[in-house]
Amino acid sequence: MNKEKKKLLVTNALPYANGPIHIGHMVGYIQADIWVRFKKMKQRDVVYLCASDAHGAPIMLSAEELSVEPKDLAAEYTKQHAKDFTDFLIKFDNYHTTHSKENEELVNEIFANLKESDCIEKRTIEQAYDEQESMFLPDRYVRGTCPQCKSLDQYGDSCEKCGATYKPTDLIDPKSALSGKPPVLRESEHYFMKLEKFESFLKDWLSGIELHESVRSKLQEWFEIGLKDWDISRDHPYFGFKIPGEDEKYFYVWLDAPIGYLASLKHLSECDPKINYDDYFSEKNESELVHFIGKDIIYFHALFWPAVLEGAGLKKPDAIYVNGFLTVNGEKMSKSRGTFIKARTYLEHNNPEYLRYYFAYKTSPGIDDFDLDTKDFLNRVNSDLVGKWINIASRSSKFLNQHFGDKLGENVEESLLEDFESSGDEISDLYDKKEFGQAMRKIMLLADQANQYLDQEKPWVLIKDEENKDRVLKVCTTSINLFFKIMVMLKPVVPSIAKSGESFLNVEQTDWDSINTRLLNHQISDYKPLLTRIENENIEAMLG
Ligand code: 2FM
Ligand code: ZN
Repeated sequence: MNKEKKKLLVTNALPYANGPIHIGHMVGYIQADIWVRFKKMKQRDVVYLCASDAHGAPIMLSAEELSVEPKDLAAEYTKQHAKDFTDFLIKFDNYHTTHSKENEELVNEIFANLKESDCIEKRTIEQAYDEQESMFLPDRYVRGTCPQCKSLDQYGDSCEKCGATYKPTDLIDPKSALSGKPPVLRESEHYFMKLEKFESFLKDWLSGIELHESVRSKLQEWFEIGLKDWDISRDHPYFGFKIPGEDEKYFYVWLDAPIGYLASLKHLSECDPKINYDDYFSEKNESELVHFIGKDIIYFHALFWPAVLEGAGLKKPDAIYVNGFLTVNGEKMSKSRGTFIKARTYLEHNNPEYLRYYFAYKTSPGIDDFDLDTKDFLNRVNSDLVGKWINIASRSSKFLNQHFGDKLGENVEESLLEDFESSGDEISDLYDKKEFGQAMRKIMLLADQANQYLDQEKPWVLIKDEENKDRVLKVCTTSINLFFKIMVMLKPVVPSIAKSGESFLNVEQTDWDSINTRLLNHQISDYKPLLTRIENENIEAMLG
């Protein structure tokens, strides 16, 4: 089936429901949302899903500290996250949670299929155990001296100083992060997914999907090291789904998290009769599946997850788009430097569309990190959105209002309109390839052209002479049409400003083809400022 005709399922990584969303998270959500809005404007049949990632040891321990049930804590964060996303104009078709009956059923079903197809093995392993807390310790909860560089107080899986990776049992002088006592080694039976046997399948599948070169080379390194079987179980106490037939064992959060994509789809299909669950994950391959993720979880999505899908006889992803991390003013976000910006804090002081534009402007398809330089952010948004784009409307609408009763004429500067219309395909192509940065630059060059036209024509001078009235009408009609075309091009990035623009221009919901529509002899409304400039105070307040 022609790719463009297939149904398209797009997902964002599921955020852990054990802490607030920060603006670093927002990079991947904003990128995916822009892409999905663009695809929807191009009339693709898209379902865009997410959910909260509710399970795991950290959330269990946080809940314990707060004396609440982990499921209640997860539900509270799920609600907060959903609100943050909505306020950032991230428009999921469904936001579910992995702690749901749909997910439990799917996890059990997939696990049974994996067992059936001989992908699972039970093995006894030795693990660090905290006798005081009566629990096996996740690797991150054992701390000690790095066996390689001898740095103190390193995590049980890797050293932050020298980058070495190792087992918690390799640490010198290990201590439990919970009780501070040295852990003991204790045996336990665990379930392993036989990842090794998927090596040739994975290589083959990866060669056929859309993946950035930098991600491919990362994967190549992992293949060279060799795939290891994957422990998908955890012992009591743990917050997760119980493994059927076991009393004291749970599925590891990373098994049920990606299955949460399916659970969110299932939940949506139960609420919306237009969505047929079976259209999306069957091996008949009638839909296209695209995951947006951060660069820290490539291993899970490009190796574990497709192996699970293959073992369970389900459709595999067609593309994985990976984003890098965000730095703020050149540094890793840090609470002590005041650069750890929660999504909510941002929203309290700034318009979400400023950040959506800035992130779009900074986006290229690779996995490079990018910086939110707050000075550059202020200048970029003020100069591009307000100074270039919105200005076209405010400069020309004034004359339309004062002299023409807000009614556009029928004459336009043909060549200029054609120029803009013929840029539509190129910009569409850039959106499609997630070259949002290049798309924004191209669009702003068009905005420059529109402003130059106004500068040359000088309607404020022309209007002084009654004889020039027709010419002024032509200049303003042309400018408003140029403003309109840019608005359609920017709509995936700034949907709410575009919506105000639509009501200013008296046009119904626009889609991508509206770039070719011309507003002639058309009544518009009185102009009201569509966007205000960012001020230094807004930035300072956000930095705290
Ligand atoms: O790394 C994380 O934040 C995970 N919560 C992402 C899960 S994505 C998917 F697999 F569920
Ligand atoms: Zn080290």
